[in-house]
Amino acid sequence: MPTLATTVDGLKMPNPFVIGSGPPGTNLNVIAKAFQEGWGAVIAKTVSLDASKVINVTPRYGKLHSSDGKEVIGWENIELISDRPFKIWEEEFKKCKDMFPDRILIASIMEEYAKERWVELVERSQACGVDGFELNFSCPHGLPERKMGSAMGQDPDILEEVCGWVKGASKIPVWAKMTPNITHIEDPSRAALRGGATGLSAINTIRSVIGVNLETLRPEPSVEGYTTPGGYSSRAVKPIALRMVMECAQLIRMEFPGRSLSAIGGVESGHDAAEFILLGGDTVQVCTGVMKFGYEHVKPMCEQLLAFMAKHKFETLADFKGKSLDYFTTHADLVKRQAERKAAQKAAATKMVKSDGEWSGSDFVKQSNDLAR
Ligand SMILES: Cc1cc2nc3c(=O)[nH]c(=O)nc-3n(C[C@H](O)[C@H](O)[C@H](O)COP(=O)(O)O)c2cc1C
Repeated sequence: MPTLATTVDGLKMPNPFVIGSGPPGTNLNVIAKAFQEGWGAVIAKTVSLDASKVINVTPRYGKLHSSDGKEVIGWENIELISDRPFKIWEEEFKKCKDMFPDRILIASIMEEYAKERWVELVERSQACGVDGFELNFSCPHGLPERKMGSAMGQDPDILEEVCGWVKGASKIPVWAKMTPNITHIEDPSRAALRGGATGLSAINTIRSVIGVNLETLRPEPSVEGYTTPGGYSSRAVKPIALRMVMECAQLIRMEFPGRSLSAIGGVESGHDAAEFILLGGDTVQVCTGVMKFGYEHVKPMCEQLLAFMAKHKFETLADFKGKSLDYFTTHADLVKRQAERKAAQKAAATKMVKSDGEWSGSDFVKQSNDLAR
């Protein structure tokens, strides 16, 4: 019987399904619900020291539907990090660990480019008993205007320095959450790992404009008639996320063996999770999927992943983690492999018996088989 239980960076989880930072981990009520429904771990909504600077607008989401209008395939948000005071978060982190001492609670943190602020945030969160940190270097909207979020995540030098500050102050695992809004995700990822991050999380949302209203001619989501580009998530981003997770996994494999990888982007099923684990993910995060299907959705996802494992006779997640990474190569190599296969087929075809005089006693069975292809 396969098991989904896993231990990543010393963090023991009943399954690899992790609530991704966002609305599904935005206060103690919903975090408790996630644990009760069986999620493997929760990454809380991103916190900072001074929530008074965080002012959200409404509407702040925009959806892209399938052509029959029945399914949401893409989701844009212009939501900021948590607007709840850090003092309240400290109380809720503590209460959460009292209520669920054996479950994994990860604090997602973000600050301005100032060492003392990052260190204070780390020390105060750590004192509340959280099990790990995720550093939000990747929010693509609002926060970059204050040189935070993806503005930091796009600058490898700053990233390395900030990871170093956090590692210096923390006694628990630290995952650096990467932005997809960059040409080569390996560059900031390498910097974060060089700075000491225990692992990577990838990806955050992709900078986007969800659409333009053809009646009002205003782009959406429209706030007082205006908008600002937001972050794109949900099923539509999965192919981009798979590519970037693969690139992070190759980097870890080649240059930082042993570091962990939390895969994110459009996960809605156990099959999606299997794909991300085959490309090197240790855990799989879900954010928009929870907003679409609810916390209960973890159960069918676990069942689908277990069924996939049983079908392939995998006992543990480690049995197939990164198994598909070996099948990426260059385009030139694809051309070479195809030419070799065609040449081999041609050689085999030319060896086939063409007239009865060519039958040989020693190759008789092979010659018979070749004629059957
Ligand atoms: C409404 C919304 C709010 C989010 N807020 C945060 C956040 O506070 N911190 C963070 O690191 N990521 C945040 N994210 C990004 C998600 O954690 C995740 O990286 C991204 O949405 C892709 O995964 P998904 O397709 O499963 O949603 C948010 C996403 C959404 C949709």
